[in-house]
Amino acid sequence: MARADLLFLKNFKKSKATVFGFGLKSVILISKVFNLAFAGILLFSACNSEQGGKVSVEPDKITFTEHIAPIIYKNCVFCHRPEGIAPFSLVTYRNVYRKKKTIAEVVSKGIMPPWPADPSYSHFVGERILTEDEKLLIKYWAQNGAKKGPEEAMPELPTFPEGSFLGKPDLTLWLDSVVLDAHSLDRFLTIKIPFEIPKDTFVRAVEFVPGKDNLVHHMNGHLLNYKEQDKKNVFDGSRIADLQSPKYSEEFQLLKMYNDDGTEPERVHSAVNYLPGVYPTLYPEGLGGFRLSKIGAFVANDIHYGPSHKNSVDRSHINVFYSRKPPDRPTFELMLGTNGQTEIVPPLVVPPNRVVTCRTKGVVPEDISVLTINPHMHLLGTSFKAFGLTVTGDTIPLIRIKRWDFNWQYFYTFKNPVKLPKGTMIIVEGVFDNTANNPFNPFDPPRTISDKNRTMKTSDEMFQFIITWVPYQKGDENINMETFLEQVTPTTSEQ
Ligand code: HEC
Repeated sequence: MARADLLFLKNFKKSKATVFGFGLKSVILISKVFNLAFAGILLFSACNSEQGGKVSVEPDKITFTEHIAPIIYKNCVFCHRPEGIAPFSLVTYRNVYRKKKTIAEVVSKGIMPPWPADPSYSHFVGERILTEDEKLLIKYWAQNGAKKGPEEAMPELPTFPEGSFLGKPDLTLWLDSVVLDAHSLDRFLTIKIPFEIPKDTFVRAVEFVPGKDNLVHHMNGHLLNYKEQDKKNVFDGSRIADLQSPKYSEEFQLLKMYNDDGTEPERVHSAVNYLPGVYPTLYPEGLGGFRLSKIGAFVANDIHYGPSHKNSVDRSHINVFYSRKPPDRPTFELMLGTNGQTEIVPPLVVPPNRVVTCRTKGVVPEDISVLTINPHMHLLGTSFKAFGLTVTGDTIPLIRIKRWDFNWQYFYTFKNPVKLPKGTMIIVEGVFDNTANNPFNPFDPPRTISDKNRTMKTSDEMFQFIITWVPYQKGDENINMETFLEQVTPTTSEQ
């Protein structure tokens, strides 16, 4: 059966699916395999109305319980529920009805659900994207009276695990309380989370759980592993550093993170990352993971607290999940661009009133399998693209972000590891807009902004691409990186 036919089934769900002898479930499963872009093509060909699109239901028959709630429950309530990280809930008909115009607008523009990566370029674990059909359903519903529909058609609200997405942790470590005053502005702190455990072990995953008011905007953490003889008291020193213009060495000093003799302990980069609304990374057993020594400290490096409107206290914690054995295939990290292993051309210095495109390139020294990537820029960034160019001239797409959004910087894990053969050139392109037209420009009037201060402050710029990889093994392309998500992703009663 042709692809278009399958998608036709998807868009016209129940009625047509049975005609072709497919159960609804298998139809959805099959169509998931194919690129969402095909859905767009199909709709376009079905498009014959002046409103610029046609959906499978007549516009005035669209109701909340039958058509809209399933979309909202699948794509929005993870964040938009009373305990979620979004500022308002979209759980009930009234919730959604009240916001219908804004909702129709933000979904049609692709602002919500927040997923900056272009799905016509590459696919990742946990991606949240609405099809054109779904966007139109919402739009026409909002324009045609936003009817409620029959009560009995209302899908069940998905349930979300509390405390952890990964299960029962082996070790829970609490960060010191952070006190935020009413009307406080953004704060960037470094927080040390020291520990001592009975013996050295291995870690499969680490999960950051923000305090209940969701004040943490993002955090990037690494792990320090000490040798027993090198560190007398890991609990010594301050736990929180709040330096205005942080230099990493000063923080290291203040938080007493050096070994007793002043040397640096072993550091595991990106041991734990957090961004609101994003599942923690968990690779299939044996892939990734790292050593955790008896004495160590996690360091929430540059943990970002958003502005607070009332006096509040944040108490976040970290869940650590052990693995029974050392990782079969430890992961490696490659960092391109700012603070990384490759040069930026032209250097990242953006004069006022200019739009500058920067590139950075690196060659892959052996066959590798890319698991996760993290594009990073600050407020001048407007678009980002990374791809591999093989020695035979083939292009391997990694990620394209057409509209960069500083607030939604994911660590993107590929659905299947992506093989980059030896000699592949990884090419990364970022566009930086330092004109007054850029609404996120931190300065008015614009001033020269660069990555030269190495402060990593939001108002300075960065251009970075981090790749987490393992040496390639035959069959890596078939590893399903999404297995864990299937366990925890809420399913609505529709599917
Ligand atoms: C990953 C978490 C997340 C998901 C998923 C998500 N949102 Fe949001 N949403 C937010 C946050 C946080 C804000 C407030 C800050 C912002 O605008 O970025 C927001 C803001 C909004 C706003 C207000 C925008 C404005 O300009 O006032 C609307 C409307 C909205 N979301 C609708 C939706 C809808 C509809 C969906 C699903 C199709 C959705 N969101 C999915 C996190 C999320």
